[in-house]
Amino acid sequence: SKTRHFKWEVGYIYASPDCNEKVLIGINGKFPGPTIRAKAGDTIHVELKNALHTEGVVIHWHGIRQLGTPWADGTASISQCAIDPEETFLYRFRVEKAGTYFYHGHYGMQRAAGLYGSLIVDAADGEEEPFRYDGEFNLLLSDWYHQSIYDQMVGLSSKPFRWIGEPQTLLINGRGQHNCSLAAHLIEGSGKCESMSKDCAPVVLRVLPNKTYRLRIASTTSLASLNLAIGNHKMVVVEADGNYVEPFMVGDIDIYSGESYSVLVTTDQNPSSNYWLSIGVRGRKPKTSPALAIVNYRPNSPSKLPESSPPVVPEWSDYNHSKSLSYRILARRGATKPPPQSADRRIVLLNTQNTVDGYTKWSINNISLALPPTPYLGSMRYRLKNAFDGGMPPENFPSNYDVMRPPKNPNSTQSSNAYVIRFNSTVDVILQNANALAVNVSEIHPWHLHGHDFWVLGYGDGRFDEEEDVARFNLKNPPLRNTVVIFPYGWTAIRFVADNPGVWAFHCHIEPHLHMGMGVIFAEGVEHVGRIPKEALTCGMTGKMLMDNHLP
Ligand code: C2O
Ligand code: CU
Repeated sequence: SKTRHFKWEVGYIYASPDCNEKVLIGINGKFPGPTIRAKAGDTIHVELKNALHTEGVVIHWHGIRQLGTPWADGTASISQCAIDPEETFLYRFRVEKAGTYFYHGHYGMQRAAGLYGSLIVDAADGEEEPFRYDGEFNLLLSDWYHQSIYDQMVGLSSKPFRWIGEPQTLLINGRGQHNCSLAAHLIEGSGKCESMSKDCAPVVLRVLPNKTYRLRIASTTSLASLNLAIGNHKMVVVEADGNYVEPFMVGDIDIYSGESYSVLVTTDQNPSSNYWLSIGVRGRKPKTSPALAIVNYRPNSPSKLPESSPPVVPEWSDYNHSKSLSYRILARRGATKPPPQSADRRIVLLNTQNTVDGYTKWSINNISLALPPTPYLGSMRYRLKNAFDGGMPPENFPSNYDVMRPPKNPNSTQSSNAYVIRFNSTVDVILQNANALAVNVSEIHPWHLHGHDFWVLGYGDGRFDEEEDVARFNLKNPPLRNTVVIFPYGWTAIRFVADNPGVWAFHCHIEPHLHMGMGVIFAEGVEHVGRIPKEALTCGMTGKMLMDNHLP
Protein backbone atom coordinates (compact mmCIF):
# COMPACT_ATOMS: atom_id res chain seq x y z
CA SER A 1 0.00 0.00 0.00
CA LYS A 2 0.96 3.57 -0.73
CA THR A 3 0.64 7.03 0.65
CA ARG A 4 -1.10 9.33 -1.80
CA HIS A 5 -0.36 13.02 -1.47
CA PHE A 6 -2.69 15.86 -2.37
CA LYS A 7 -2.26 19.58 -1.97
CA TRP A 8 -5.55 21.43 -2.04
CA GLU A 9 -6.71 24.99 -1.75
CA VAL A 10 -10.34 25.63 -0.96
CA GLY A 11 -11.52 28.92 -2.43
CA TYR A 12 -14.36 30.88 -3.96
CA ILE A 13 -14.51 30.57 -7.71
CA TYR A 14 -16.78 31.63 -10.53
CA ALA A 15 -18.50 28.72 -12.20
CA SER A 16 -21.64 28.08 -14.22
CA PRO A 17 -22.79 24.63 -13.17
CA ASP A 18 -26.18 25.08 -14.83
CA CYS A 19 -25.20 27.74 -17.39
CA ASN A 20 -25.78 30.54 -14.85
CA GLU A 21 -22.64 32.05 -13.41
CA LYS A 22 -22.33 32.02 -9.61
CA VAL A 23 -19.65 32.21 -6.96
CA LEU A 24 -19.22 28.82 -5.36
CA ILE A 25 -16.68 26.96 -3.25
CA GLY A 26 -14.19 24.97 -5.29
CA ILE A 27 -10.90 23.20 -4.76
CA ASN A 28 -7.77 24.17 -6.69
CA GLY A 29 -9.98 26.36 -8.86
CA LYS A 30 -12.25 23.47 -9.82
CA PHE A 31 -15.83 22.44 -9.18
CA PRO A 32 -16.50 19.69 -8.21
CA GLY A 33 -13.24 19.12 -6.38
CA PRO A 34 -10.60 16.69 -7.67
CA THR A 35 -11.38 12.97 -7.56
CA ILE A 36 -9.28 10.98 -5.13
CA ARG A 37 -8.49 7.52 -6.40
CA ALA A 38 -6.71 5.05 -4.16
CA LYS A 39 -6.42 1.38 -3.36
CA ALA A 40 -7.72 -0.32 -0.24
CA GLY A 41 -5.07 -0.07 2.46
CA ASP A 42 -3.58 3.18 1.13
CA THR A 43 -2.99 6.24 3.25
CA ILE A 44 -4.44 9.52 2.00
CA HIS A 45 -2.59 12.69 2.78
CA VAL A 46 -4.45 15.91 1.98
CA GLU A 47 -2.75 19.17 2.83
CA LEU A 48 -5.74 21.46 2.90
CA LYS A 49 -5.29 25.19 2.74
CA ASN A 50 -8.24 27.41 3.48
CA ALA A 51 -8.21 30.18 0.89
CA LEU A 52 -11.76 31.36 1.70
CA HIS A 53 -11.30 34.94 2.80
CA THR A 54 -13.67 35.19 5.71
CA GLU A 55 -14.78 31.80 6.94
CA GLY A 56 -13.42 28.55 8.29
CA VAL A 57 -13.55 25.23 6.48
CA VAL A 58 -13.31 21.47 7.13
CA ILE A 59 -13.68 18.45 4.84
CA HIS A 60 -15.41 15.22 5.79
CA TRP A 61 -14.53 11.94 4.06
CA HIS A 62 -17.95 10.43 3.82
CA GLY A 63 -17.97 6.64 4.34
CA ILE A 64 -14.35 6.42 5.51
CA ARG A 65 -14.28 5.01 9.04
CA GLN A 66 -11.27 6.96 10.35
CA LEU A 67 -10.34 4.02 12.56
CA GLY A 68 -7.67 5.39 14.90
CA THR A 69 -7.78 8.88 13.34
CA PRO A 70 -11.02 10.43 14.65
CA TRP A 71 -9.47 13.92 14.38
CA ALA A 72 -9.38 13.52 10.59
CA ASP A 73 -13.15 13.05 10.25
CA GLY A 74 -13.55 16.67 9.20
CA THR A 75 -16.57 17.76 11.23
CA ALA A 76 -16.45 21.30 12.62
CA SER A 77 -17.30 21.46 16.35
CA ILE A 78 -17.16 17.67 16.60
CA SER A 79 -13.79 16.29 15.46
CA GLN A 80 -11.80 19.49 14.98
CA CYS A 81 -11.74 23.27 15.03
CA ALA A 82 -12.61 24.78 11.66
CA ILE A 83 -9.47 25.67 9.70
CA ASP A 84 -9.06 29.45 9.73
CA PRO A 85 -8.54 31.45 6.54
CA GLU A 86 -4.96 31.12 5.26
CA GLU A 87 -4.30 28.18 7.60
CA THR A 88 -3.48 24.65 6.49
CA PHE A 89 -4.63 21.38 8.05
CA LEU A 90 -3.25 17.96 7.26
CA TYR A 91 -5.84 15.21 6.79
CA ARG A 92 -4.09 11.87 7.06
CA PHE A 93 -6.12 8.68 7.15
CA ARG A 94 -6.31 5.16 5.77
CA VAL A 95 -8.91 3.95 3.29
CA GLU A 96 -9.58 0.40 4.36
CA LYS A 97 -12.24 -0.86 2.04
CA ALA A 98 -12.80 -0.73 -1.72
CA GLY A 99 -15.88 1.21 -2.73
CA THR A 100 -17.52 4.36 -3.96
CA TYR A 101 -17.22 7.28 -1.58
CA PHE A 102 -17.10 11.05 -1.65
CA TYR A 103 -15.98 13.98 0.44
CA HIS A 104 -17.61 17.27 1.30
CA GLY A 105 -17.53 20.36 3.47
CA HIS A 106 -18.99 19.86 6.96
CA TYR A 107 -19.18 23.36 8.34
CA GLY A 108 -22.35 25.46 8.10
CA MET A 109 -23.91 24.63 4.74
CA GLN A 110 -20.68 24.66 2.73
CA ARG A 111 -21.50 21.34 1.10
CA ALA A 112 -24.44 23.04 -0.62
CA ALA A 113 -22.07 25.74 -1.89
CA GLY A 114 -20.32 23.14 -4.03
CA LEU A 115 -17.60 21.89 -1.70
CA TYR A 116 -17.53 18.20 -2.66
CA GLY A 117 -15.86 15.61 -4.84
CA SER A 118 -15.47 11.85 -5.37
CA LEU A 119 -13.31 9.41 -3.44
CA ILE A 120 -12.95 6.06 -5.14
CA VAL A 121 -11.18 3.14 -3.56
CA ASP A 122 -10.17 0.22 -5.75
CA ALA A 123 -9.53 -3.29 -4.49
CA ALA A 124 -6.06 -3.79 -3.02
CA ASP A 125 -3.37 -5.27 -5.25
CA GLY A 126 -3.96 -8.98 -5.58
CA GLU A 127 -7.63 -8.65 -4.53
CA GLU A 128 -10.56 -8.71 -6.91
CA GLU A 129 -14.02 -7.23 -6.94
CA PRO A 130 -16.63 -10.03 -6.82
CA PHE A 131 -18.04 -9.03 -10.22
CA ARG A 132 -16.59 -8.28 -13.66
CA TYR A 133 -16.89 -5.26 -15.89
CA ASP A 134 -15.16 -3.80 -18.92
CA GLY A 135 -15.12 -0.15 -17.96
CA GLU A 136 -16.54 2.27 -15.44
CA PHE A 137 -18.05 5.73 -15.09
CA ASN A 138 -18.35 7.91 -12.06
CA LEU A 139 -21.52 9.94 -11.51
CA LEU A 140 -21.51 12.33 -8.58
CA LEU A 141 -25.05 13.68 -8.20
CA SER A 142 -26.03 16.93 -6.54
CA ASP A 143 -28.69 19.63 -6.56
CA TRP A 144 -28.09 23.31 -7.11
CA TYR A 145 -29.63 26.52 -5.77
CA HIS A 146 -29.23 29.98 -7.23
CA GLN A 147 -29.58 31.54 -3.79
CA SER A 148 -26.28 31.64 -1.89
CA ILE A 149 -25.87 29.41 1.15
CA TYR A 150 -25.58 32.55 3.27
CA ASP A 151 -29.05 33.68 2.18
CA GLN A 152 -30.30 30.16 2.77
CA MET A 153 -28.84 29.95 6.28
CA VAL A 154 -30.25 33.31 7.31
CA GLY A 155 -33.69 32.30 6.03
CA LEU A 156 -33.64 29.00 7.90
CA SER A 157 -32.81 30.71 11.17
CA SER A 158 -35.23 33.61 10.79
CA LYS A 159 -38.59 34.31 12.36
CA PRO A 160 -40.76 33.85 10.39
CA PHE A 161 -39.00 30.87 8.93
CA ARG A 162 -37.99 31.05 5.28
CA TRP A 163 -37.66 27.68 3.61
CA ILE A 164 -35.05 27.23 0.85
CA GLY A 165 -37.57 25.65 -1.53
CA GLU A 166 -36.73 23.15 -4.23
CA PRO A 167 -33.39 23.28 -6.08
CA GLN A 168 -33.20 25.06 -9.42
CA THR A 169 -31.15 22.35 -11.11
CA LEU A 170 -29.94 18.79 -10.66
CA LEU A 171 -26.27 18.28 -11.47
CA ILE A 172 -24.32 15.28 -12.72
CA ASN A 173 -20.60 15.67 -12.04
CA GLY A 174 -21.27 19.34 -11.35
CA ARG A 175 -23.06 20.01 -14.62
CA GLY A 176 -26.71 20.59 -15.45
CA GLN A 177 -29.01 22.66 -17.59
CA HIS A 178 -31.34 25.32 -16.30
CA ASN A 179 -33.91 26.81 -18.62
CA CYS A 180 -32.25 25.60 -21.74
CA SER A 181 -32.98 22.40 -23.47
CA LEU A 182 -30.39 19.68 -23.49
CA ALA A 183 -31.14 19.07 -27.13
CA ALA A 184 -30.05 22.65 -27.76
CA HIS A 185 -26.74 21.77 -26.23
CA LEU A 186 -26.20 18.79 -28.40
CA ILE A 187 -27.19 20.52 -31.58
CA GLU A 188 -24.72 23.27 -32.34
CA GLY A 189 -25.36 26.94 -31.85
CA SER A 190 -28.07 27.61 -29.30
CA GLY A 191 -27.67 31.07 -27.77
CA LYS A 192 -27.68 31.13 -24.00
CA CYS A 193 -26.69 27.56 -23.30
CA GLU A 194 -23.98 27.62 -25.90
CA SER A 195 -22.23 30.64 -24.47
CA MET A 196 -21.06 28.84 -21.35
CA SER A 197 -21.13 25.35 -22.69
CA LYS A 198 -17.93 24.17 -21.07
CA ASP A 199 -19.17 24.25 -17.47
CA CYS A 200 -22.68 23.06 -18.16
CA ALA A 201 -22.34 20.73 -21.13
CA PRO A 202 -24.16 17.44 -20.58
CA VAL A 203 -22.23 14.43 -19.39
CA VAL A 204 -21.64 11.85 -22.12
CA LEU A 205 -20.93 8.21 -21.28
CA ARG A 206 -19.11 6.78 -24.28
CA VAL A 207 -19.67 3.04 -24.44
CA LEU A 208 -19.04 0.17 -26.82
CA PRO A 209 -21.84 -2.27 -27.66
CA ASN A 210 -22.03 -5.58 -25.79
CA LYS A 211 -19.86 -4.65 -22.88
CA THR A 212 -20.58 -4.34 -19.18
CA TYR A 213 -19.94 -1.06 -17.40
CA ARG A 214 -19.86 -0.20 -13.76
CA LEU A 215 -21.58 3.04 -12.89
CA ARG A 216 -20.48 4.48 -9.58
CA ILE A 217 -23.26 6.70 -8.33
CA ALA A 218 -23.14 8.87 -5.23
CA SER A 219 -25.47 11.62 -4.06
CA THR A 220 -24.34 14.67 -2.17
CA THR A 221 -27.58 16.61 -2.70
CA SER A 222 -28.53 19.32 -0.27
CA LEU A 223 -32.19 18.34 -0.30
CA ALA A 224 -33.36 16.18 -3.18
CA SER A 225 -33.92 12.44 -3.13
CA LEU A 226 -33.19 11.17 -6.62
CA ASN A 227 -34.14 8.41 -9.02
CA LEU A 228 -31.82 7.30 -11.81
CA ALA A 229 -32.78 5.31 -14.91
CA ILE A 230 -31.34 4.62 -18.35
CA GLY A 231 -33.62 4.30 -21.37
CA ASN A 232 -34.04 0.67 -22.49
CA HIS A 233 -31.38 -0.62 -20.08
CA LYS A 234 -31.61 -2.51 -16.82
CA MET A 235 -29.11 -2.18 -14.00
CA VAL A 236 -27.71 -4.75 -11.58
CA VAL A 237 -27.03 -3.32 -8.12
CA VAL A 238 -23.75 -4.69 -6.70
CA GLU A 239 -22.46 -2.19 -4.13
CA ALA A 240 -24.03 0.17 -1.60
CA ASP A 241 -22.01 2.64 0.52
CA GLY A 242 -18.76 0.74 -0.02
CA ASN A 243 -20.23 -2.68 0.80
CA TYR A 244 -21.07 -5.49 -1.60
CA VAL A 245 -24.72 -6.37 -1.87
CA GLU A 246 -26.39 -9.51 -3.22
CA PRO A 247 -26.79 -8.57 -6.92
CA PHE A 248 -30.33 -7.76 -8.06
CA MET A 249 -31.76 -6.19 -11.17
CA VAL A 250 -33.71 -2.94 -11.33
CA GLY A 251 -35.12 -0.66 -14.00
CA ASP A 252 -34.48 2.45 -11.93
CA ILE A 253 -32.82 3.21 -8.61
CA ASP A 254 -33.54 5.69 -5.81
CA ILE A 255 -30.53 7.46 -4.30
CA TYR A 256 -30.81 9.56 -1.17
CA SER A 257 -28.34 12.17 -0.08
CA GLY A 258 -25.32 10.50 1.49
CA GLU A 259 -25.77 7.18 -0.31
CA SER A 260 -23.61 5.59 -2.96
CA TYR A 261 -24.19 2.62 -5.26
CA SER A 262 -22.48 0.70 -7.99
CA VAL A 263 -24.64 -0.76 -10.72
CA LEU A 264 -23.61 -2.85 -13.71
CA VAL A 265 -25.10 -1.98 -17.09
CA THR A 266 -24.76 -4.17 -20.16
CA THR A 267 -24.85 -2.32 -23.48
CA ASP A 268 -27.00 -4.87 -25.26
CA GLN A 269 -29.47 -2.53 -26.97
CA ASN A 270 -29.68 -1.41 -30.59
CA PRO A 271 -26.18 0.00 -31.16
CA SER A 272 -27.22 2.47 -33.85
CA SER A 273 -28.98 4.58 -31.24
CA ASN A 274 -27.89 6.63 -28.24
CA TYR A 275 -29.87 6.54 -24.95
CA TRP A 276 -30.83 8.97 -22.20
CA LEU A 277 -29.77 8.58 -18.63
CA SER A 278 -32.21 10.56 -16.52
CA ILE A 279 -32.24 11.67 -12.89
CA GLY A 280 -35.38 13.02 -11.30
CA VAL A 281 -36.70 14.06 -7.90
CA ARG A 282 -38.43 11.65 -5.49
CA GLY A 283 -40.28 12.15 -2.21
CA ARG A 284 -41.08 15.86 -2.63
CA LYS A 285 -43.32 17.46 -5.18
CA PRO A 286 -40.73 18.18 -7.88
CA LYS A 287 -40.21 21.69 -9.20
CA THR A 288 -36.87 20.79 -10.74
CA SER A 289 -36.47 19.29 -14.20
CA PRO A 290 -34.69 15.97 -14.46
CA ALA A 291 -30.99 16.01 -15.23
CA LEU A 292 -30.01 14.20 -18.40
CA ALA A 293 -26.86 12.53 -19.64
CA ILE A 294 -26.22 10.68 -22.88
CA VAL A 295 -25.23 7.05 -23.16
CA ASN A 296 -23.35 7.24 -26.43
CA TYR A 297 -22.90 3.93 -28.25
CA ARG A 298 -19.75 4.30 -30.27
CA PRO A 299 -19.17 4.96 -33.09
CA ASN A 300 -22.38 7.07 -33.09
CA SER A 301 -21.83 10.77 -32.69
CA PRO A 302 -22.40 11.88 -29.08
CA SER A 303 -24.65 14.62 -30.42
CA LYS A 304 -26.99 12.16 -32.11
CA LEU A 305 -30.27 12.55 -30.21
CA PRO A 306 -31.61 9.34 -28.67
CA GLU A 307 -34.55 7.89 -30.57
CA SER A 308 -36.63 7.22 -27.49
CA SER A 309 -37.56 9.88 -24.95
CA PRO A 310 -35.91 9.94 -21.50
CA PRO A 311 -37.18 7.39 -18.96
CA VAL A 312 -40.10 8.68 -16.91
CA VAL A 313 -39.32 9.31 -13.22
CA PRO A 314 -41.68 7.35 -10.94
CA GLU A 315 -44.41 9.46 -9.31
CA TRP A 316 -42.70 11.43 -6.50
CA SER A 317 -45.09 10.14 -3.83
CA ASP A 318 -44.92 6.47 -4.83
CA TYR A 319 -43.22 5.40 -1.61
CA ASN A 320 -44.05 1.75 -2.18
CA HIS A 321 -41.75 1.85 -5.18
CA SER A 322 -38.96 3.31 -3.02
CA LYS A 323 -39.55 0.85 -0.19
CA SER A 324 -39.45 -2.16 -2.47
CA LEU A 325 -35.98 -1.10 -3.60
CA SER A 326 -34.71 -0.54 -0.04
CA TYR A 327 -36.09 -3.90 1.11
CA ARG A 328 -34.24 -5.72 -1.66
CA ILE A 329 -30.80 -4.54 -0.56
CA LEU A 330 -29.12 -7.40 1.31
CA ALA A 331 -25.52 -8.28 2.14
CA ARG A 332 -23.71 -10.22 -0.54
CA ARG A 333 -23.38 -13.88 0.40
CA GLY A 334 -20.02 -14.52 2.01
CA ALA A 335 -18.91 -10.88 1.77
CA THR A 336 -19.31 -9.99 5.44
CA LYS A 337 -20.03 -11.77 8.65
CA PRO A 338 -23.51 -11.50 10.13
CA PRO A 339 -24.10 -8.94 12.90
CA PRO A 340 -23.91 -9.75 16.62
CA GLN A 341 -27.17 -11.57 17.32
CA SER A 342 -28.15 -9.27 20.18
CA ALA A 343 -27.51 -5.70 21.28
CA ASP A 344 -26.36 -4.27 24.62
CA ARG A 345 -28.45 -1.16 24.32
CA ARG A 346 -31.33 0.22 22.32
CA ILE A 347 -31.71 3.91 21.58
CA VAL A 348 -35.00 5.04 20.04
CA LEU A 349 -34.81 8.38 18.25
CA LEU A 350 -38.04 10.20 17.46
CA ASN A 351 -37.69 12.64 14.54
CA THR A 352 -39.96 15.65 14.83
CA GLN A 353 -40.26 19.11 13.43
CA ASN A 354 -40.53 21.62 16.27
CA THR A 355 -40.21 25.19 17.33
CA VAL A 356 -37.69 26.69 19.74
CA ASP A 357 -38.76 30.20 20.77
CA GLY A 358 -40.75 30.41 17.57
CA TYR A 359 -37.86 29.32 15.34
CA THR A 360 -38.53 26.25 13.23
CA LYS A 361 -36.24 23.32 14.05
CA TRP A 362 -35.91 19.56 13.77
CA SER A 363 -35.57 17.67 17.01
CA ILE A 364 -34.58 14.22 18.12
CA ASN A 365 -36.46 13.10 21.25
CA ASN A 366 -37.39 16.74 21.60
CA ILE A 367 -33.81 18.04 21.48
CA SER A 368 -32.54 20.08 18.57
CA LEU A 369 -28.76 19.74 18.16
CA ALA A 370 -26.78 22.92 18.74
CA LEU A 371 -23.06 22.40 18.22
CA PRO A 372 -20.72 23.74 20.93
CA PRO A 373 -17.81 26.15 20.33
CA THR A 374 -15.23 23.60 21.48
CA PRO A 375 -15.15 20.40 19.40
CA TYR A 376 -16.29 17.38 21.43
CA LEU A 377 -13.30 15.22 20.56
CA GLY A 378 -10.84 17.57 22.27
CA SER A 379 -13.02 18.53 25.19
CA MET A 380 -13.91 14.92 25.98
CA ARG A 381 -10.39 13.60 25.49
CA TYR A 382 -8.96 16.22 27.87
CA ARG A 383 -11.99 16.12 30.17
CA LEU A 384 -12.63 19.85 30.00
CA LYS A 385 -15.62 20.79 32.13
CA ASN A 386 -18.68 22.56 30.75
CA ALA A 387 -17.52 22.47 27.14
CA PHE A 388 -20.96 21.20 26.12
CA ASP A 389 -24.31 20.56 27.79
CA GLY A 390 -24.18 17.80 30.37
CA GLY A 391 -26.63 15.03 31.02
CA MET A 392 -27.58 12.11 28.83
CA PRO A 393 -30.05 12.82 26.06
CA PRO A 394 -33.22 10.70 26.25
CA GLU A 395 -33.14 7.11 24.93
CA ASN A 396 -36.81 6.97 24.06
CA PHE A 397 -39.95 9.08 23.74
CA PRO A 398 -43.28 9.07 25.58
CA SER A 399 -45.42 6.02 24.84
CA ASN A 400 -48.47 8.20 24.25
CA TYR A 401 -46.81 10.28 21.52
CA ASP A 402 -48.85 10.01 18.32
CA VAL A 403 -46.42 9.74 15.40
CA MET A 404 -49.27 10.09 12.89
CA ARG A 405 -50.18 13.65 13.96
CA PRO A 406 -48.38 16.99 14.36
CA PRO A 407 -46.78 17.41 17.81
CA LYS A 408 -49.38 18.47 20.42
CA ASN A 409 -46.82 20.70 22.04
CA PRO A 410 -44.36 21.76 19.33
CA ASN A 411 -41.90 23.41 21.73
CA SER A 412 -38.54 21.75 22.05
CA THR A 413 -35.14 22.75 23.37
CA GLN A 414 -31.68 23.11 21.91
CA SER A 415 -28.80 21.23 23.43
CA SER A 416 -25.29 20.02 22.73
CA ASN A 417 -25.50 16.94 24.96
CA ALA A 418 -24.07 13.66 23.66
CA TYR A 419 -24.80 9.93 23.91
CA VAL A 420 -21.85 8.25 25.59
CA ILE A 421 -21.58 4.65 24.45
CA ARG A 422 -19.60 1.92 26.16
CA PHE A 423 -16.56 1.01 24.09
CA ASN A 424 -17.03 -2.19 22.04
CA SER A 425 -20.68 -2.54 22.96
CA THR A 426 -23.36 -3.32 20.39
CA VAL A 427 -26.00 -0.66 19.95
CA ASP A 428 -29.37 -0.71 18.21
CA VAL A 429 -30.80 2.57 17.05
CA ILE A 430 -34.42 2.84 16.03
CA LEU A 431 -35.11 5.89 13.90
CA GLN A 432 -38.78 6.75 14.29
CA ASN A 433 -40.34 9.13 11.80
CA ALA A 434 -43.41 11.19 12.66
CA ASN A 435 -45.70 13.88 11.36
CA ALA A 436 -44.04 17.27 10.79
CA LEU A 437 -45.58 20.57 11.99
CA ALA A 438 -48.18 20.66 9.21
CA VAL A 439 -50.99 18.10 9.13
CA ASN A 440 -50.50 15.11 6.82
CA VAL A 441 -46.84 15.82 6.20
CA SER A 442 -44.03 13.42 6.96
CA GLU A 443 -40.77 13.61 5.05
CA ILE A 444 -37.96 11.31 3.99
CA HIS A 445 -34.76 11.64 6.04
CA PRO A 446 -31.53 9.88 5.04
CA TRP A 447 -29.52 9.29 8.22
CA HIS A 448 -25.75 9.06 8.04
CA LEU A 449 -23.42 7.70 10.73
CA HIS A 450 -19.81 8.81 10.96
CA GLY A 451 -17.02 6.43 11.98
CA HIS A 452 -18.95 3.20 11.34
CA ASP A 453 -20.87 1.05 8.97
CA PHE A 454 -24.10 -0.29 10.46
CA TRP A 455 -26.38 -3.19 9.67
CA VAL A 456 -29.88 -2.28 8.54
CA LEU A 457 -32.01 -4.74 10.51
CA GLY A 458 -35.42 -3.70 9.29
CA TYR A 459 -37.98 -1.13 8.26
CA GLY A 460 -41.62 -0.69 9.09
CA ASP A 461 -44.62 1.60 8.89
CA GLY A 462 -46.12 3.45 11.85
CA ARG A 463 -44.77 3.24 15.35
CA PHE A 464 -41.98 0.77 16.13
CA ASP A 465 -43.12 -2.08 18.35
CA GLU A 466 -40.47 -3.16 20.83
CA GLU A 467 -41.63 -6.79 20.79
CA GLU A 468 -43.09 -7.68 17.44
CA ASP A 469 -40.71 -5.65 15.34
CA VAL A 470 -37.59 -6.74 17.20
CA ALA A 471 -38.60 -10.36 16.64
CA ARG A 472 -38.70 -9.68 12.91
CA PHE A 473 -35.20 -8.16 12.60
CA ASN A 474 -33.08 -9.56 9.79
CA LEU A 475 -30.07 -10.97 11.65
CA LYS A 476 -29.02 -13.26 8.82
CA ASN A 477 -28.00 -11.05 5.89
CA PRO A 478 -28.73 -7.40 6.70
CA PRO A 479 -26.80 -5.00 4.47
CA LEU A 480 -23.95 -2.94 5.89
CA ARG A 481 -24.29 0.75 5.12
CA ASN A 482 -23.36 4.19 6.39
CA THR A 483 -26.56 5.94 5.32
CA VAL A 484 -30.15 4.76 5.56
CA VAL A 485 -33.47 6.38 4.97
CA ILE A 486 -36.55 6.63 7.14
CA PHE A 487 -39.72 6.71 5.10
CA PRO A 488 -42.67 8.99 5.96
CA TYR A 489 -44.46 7.79 9.12
CA GLY A 490 -42.11 4.80 9.29
CA TRP A 491 -39.17 3.49 11.28
CA THR A 492 -35.79 2.01 10.43
CA ALA A 493 -33.67 -0.14 12.77
CA ILE A 494 -29.88 -0.29 12.61
CA ARG A 495 -27.16 -2.03 14.67
CA PHE A 496 -23.51 -1.11 15.05
CA VAL A 497 -20.54 -2.03 17.21
CA ALA A 498 -19.00 0.94 19.03
CA ASP A 499 -15.43 -0.12 18.27
CA ASN A 500 -13.99 3.13 16.95
CA PRO A 501 -12.70 5.45 19.68
CA GLY A 502 -13.89 8.95 18.92
CA VAL A 503 -16.86 11.29 18.75
CA TRP A 504 -19.17 10.74 15.82
CA ALA A 505 -22.04 12.61 14.27
CA PHE A 506 -25.22 10.76 13.37
CA HIS A 507 -27.53 13.02 11.42
CA CYS A 508 -29.97 13.61 8.63
CA HIS A 509 -27.93 14.19 5.48
CA ILE A 510 -30.30 16.83 4.18
CA GLU A 511 -28.19 19.96 4.57
CA PRO A 512 -30.94 22.36 5.76
CA HIS A 513 -32.29 19.71 8.18
CA LEU A 514 -28.88 19.24 9.80
CA HIS A 515 -28.57 23.00 9.98
CA MET A 516 -31.94 23.04 11.80
CA GLY A 517 -30.64 20.62 14.43
CA MET A 518 -31.46 17.19 13.01
CA GLY A 519 -28.68 15.12 14.47
CA VAL A 520 -27.17 13.53 17.57
CA ILE A 521 -23.63 12.92 18.83
CA PHE A 522 -22.22 9.51 19.80
CA ALA A 523 -19.03 9.29 21.85
CA GLU A 524 -17.24 5.97 22.45
CA GLY A 525 -13.90 4.93 23.89
CA VAL A 526 -12.63 8.50 23.93
CA GLU A 527 -10.04 7.52 26.55
CA HIS A 528 -8.44 5.32 23.85
CA VAL A 529 -8.06 8.17 21.37
CA GLY A 530 -4.40 8.75 20.47
CA ARG A 531 -2.59 12.07 20.24
CA ILE A 532 -4.87 14.64 18.65
CA PRO A 533 -2.91 16.97 16.34
CA LYS A 534 -2.67 20.43 17.92
CA GLU A 535 -4.04 22.04 14.76
CA ALA A 536 -7.38 20.34 15.49
CA LEU A 537 -7.59 21.95 18.92
CA THR A 538 -6.83 25.62 18.37
CA CYS A 539 -10.30 26.97 19.19
CA GLY A 540 -12.54 27.29 22.24
CA MET A 541 -11.51 25.66 25.51
CA THR A 542 -8.92 23.37 23.91
CA GLY A 543 -7.28 26.44 22.38
CA LYS A 544 -7.14 27.99 25.80
CA MET A 545 -5.71 24.77 27.23
CA LEU A 546 -2.93 24.82 24.64
CA MET A 547 -2.07 28.40 25.55
CA ASP A 548 -2.07 27.72 29.28
CA ASN A 549 0.25 24.73 28.79
CA HIS A 550 2.71 26.39 26.51
CA LEU A 551 2.97 29.97 27.70
CA PRO A 552 4.76 30.89 30.91
CU1 C2O B 1 -21.78 13.26 4.39
CU2 C2O B 1 -21.95 14.24 8.36
O1 C2O B 1 -21.97 13.81 6.37
CU1 CU C 1 -34.03 15.30 7.24
